[in-house]
Amino acid sequence: MKLTLSPPEGSMGRPATPWTSPEHYWPELTRATEHLDPPVAVLHLGALEHNAADMVRRAAGKPIRVASKSVRVRGVIDAVLELPGYHGVLAYTLAEALWLAEPSAARSGIDDVVVGYPTVDRKEIARLGASAELAGRVTLMIDSVAQLDLIDHVCPPGKRESIRVCLELDGSWLAPVLGKLGVWRSPIYTPADARRLAEEIVQRPGFELVGMMAYEAQIAGVGDAPAGQPVMARVNRWMQRQSRPEIATRRGEAVTAVRQVADLEFVNGGGTGSLESTSADASVTEIAAGSGLLGGHLFDNYAGFLPAPAAAFALPIVRKATADSATMLGGGWIASGVPAADRLPSLEWPLGLRYAPREAAGEVQSPVFGTAAAGLVPGDRVWLRHTKSGELSEHVDRFHIVDGNKVIGTLPSYRGEGKVFL
Ligand SMILES: Cc1ncc(COP(=O)(O)O)c(C=O)c1O
Repeated sequence: MKLTLSPPEGSMGRPATPWTSPEHYWPELTRATEHLDPPVAVLHLGALEHNAADMVRRAAGKPIRVASKSVRVRGVIDAVLELPGYHGVLAYTLAEALWLAEPSAARSGIDDVVVGYPTVDRKEIARLGASAELAGRVTLMIDSVAQLDLIDHVCPPGKRESIRVCLELDGSWLAPVLGKLGVWRSPIYTPADARRLAEEIVQRPGFELVGMMAYEAQIAGVGDAPAGQPVMARVNRWMQRQSRPEIATRRGEAVTAVRQVADLEFVNGGGTGSLESTSADASVTEIAAGSGLLGGHLFDNYAGFLPAPAAAFALPIVRKATADSATMLGGGWIASGVPAADRLPSLEWPLGLRYAPREAAGEVQSPVFGTAAAGLVPGDRVWLRHTKSGELSEHVDRFHIVDGNKVIGTLPSYRGEGKVFL
């Protein structure tokens, strides 16, 4: 199917936010998908439309570049890009970026794709360097001269198209006592570092420095209101209060320094959790975000916004080891990151289920306990959400698109299209 998203008020007489009443939302998803045997993954159209619109509202006028790793469904990425407020894709591998950018019989291809992470994929670099069309559409991430050398080695300047590059500034915060907070990404930390690398890039033939990026993961991906963890919430809020002005100042100075040597088309920052503060940073021209579209449960932990649970999956109950428990088939779709309980799929419906502490979510079976477990019998289903928005797409070949109480079509995940990039 071709997915088209409308503004949320276009949902014609239905409750505007049905997911706020779990006793309405999940049974309706069950009714809509009754004819399908679980495991079954769904995308709720109204919830997706709501999330897409809410992200645009939060971005307050700055365009959002879709972080494709947090979606991994081509039809959803294409549909979101048709909405006002969205422009371009932040891809996660070069192979993926070329696949998205390349025109085909079915699609015109996406004309602005930034690969968000450095690439050393020689085959794909050669493909990029050999095509004027792809080289005009795809931008590579750079944070060191070694990456430029590798590209030159694969396809020397003069024998290739000019390669568009984006310089990544590290967006973490060097906190007193606690040390580096955020993610370990680029070695480029100071405005002087950024200027030095920019000078190196612009004096090398065959490269065009077109963008800068600094991703403040410690704000964009760390909730300031983690459920049941008041101390952590206070620490995170304190950390983010310090980090916001620090990144705004340092990023601003770095952008000014780099703009003295290159005409930048864009300056990218942020993510789903930082749309407001990244938008307020005058040096930033666009924000990369994706998780808020499908609403993985990692993003339930922010005080300022709450994505709707647009993507979810149902597993069947297949047996009962005891009268007060029920066992699901599968369940162990554990998210990446530091292993901890928050990487487990959340048990959404029926309410009041919990995992067995010594088993949690298993490879083939997941027993659940709690008030609702006694009433579950083989053939019933449990609704769950993945922690991270895009990783669910690695476990299912398609999403059933649900509008109200019916399935209106299906969309393949990347995996369902035979594409496994990471
Ligand atoms: C470079 C970069 N930008 C932005 C994001 C934000 O993506 P999301 O909104 O899906 O959390 C990420 C996520 O890891 C990222 O690595």
